[in-house]
Amino acid sequence: MGDDARRVVLPAADWASAVAAELVARLSDRPALRICLPTGETPGPVYAALVAAACDGRVSFDRATLVMLDAWVGLPPGDPARCDVRLRAELVDRLPRPPAAFIAIDVDGPDPDAAADRHDAAAARLDLAILGLGPNGHVGFNEPGSRPDDPTRLVRLAASSREAAVARYGATRVPTAGITIGLRRLLGAEEAWLLVTGERKASILRRCLEDPVGPDRPASWLRRHPRLTVFADEGAASLLPRG
Ligand code: F6R
Repeated sequence: MGDDARRVVLPAADWASAVAAELVARLSDRPALRICLPTGETPGPVYAALVAAACDGRVSFDRATLVMLDAWVGLPPGDPARCDVRLRAELVDRLPRPPAAFIAIDVDGPDPDAAADRHDAAAARLDLAILGLGPNGHVGFNEPGSRPDDPTRLVRLAASSREAAVARYGATRVPTAGITIGLRRLLGAEEAWLLVTGERKASILRRCLEDPVGPDRPASWLRRHPRLTVFADEGAASLLPRG
């Protein structure tokens, strides 16, 4: 336990293919991997590289289980910003052979708390948690204030996250809430990867990795994970101490 995360810093042009290659290697060692996956802009190029690898026969997800990391609540089925829609469009539905399972979060049912409880059970045995970093330090929708023992749950979204749904991801309306795998499950995954790209994330990445761990920047709790790898491109890593 401690600040011994592996930091992999790559030129922007190589970043996605390097992250994808590492996942291809994991899957070739352990084809039945259980992975939770984020949406957003950061992982898109990685998913494109994985689709290319699968189409070339360099990897298959057909024994893997893909678990959604989080989901907006209050967006209609088919909304382009929905995490299930994006994950299917960018990865799941583009694979030549489907994954063994794709576990989505039921945001359309009458009881989001019950849906969160069911997803907490699905997230109980993750081999690999792949995560993005929010501009306010969130991971999944574990917004500032989140604690390391938080379960998968219905959460109130930070204003910046609600706005991002429309402004950055093209949601047709502002989401009312979110459901996210909680930090307890993310810290309990066998391995965790934090994916971070672009200079606009440089300041928050530095604060998450270098300032004291705490609830103001939930991603900082990941430093307590025994097997954390941070994959940053040179822009995102530009404010980290050298070496
Ligand atoms: C989305 C998610 C979020 C994003 C984060 C970064 O499923 O879990 O935590 O990873 O907001 O988003 P981008 O990659 O769009 O900068």
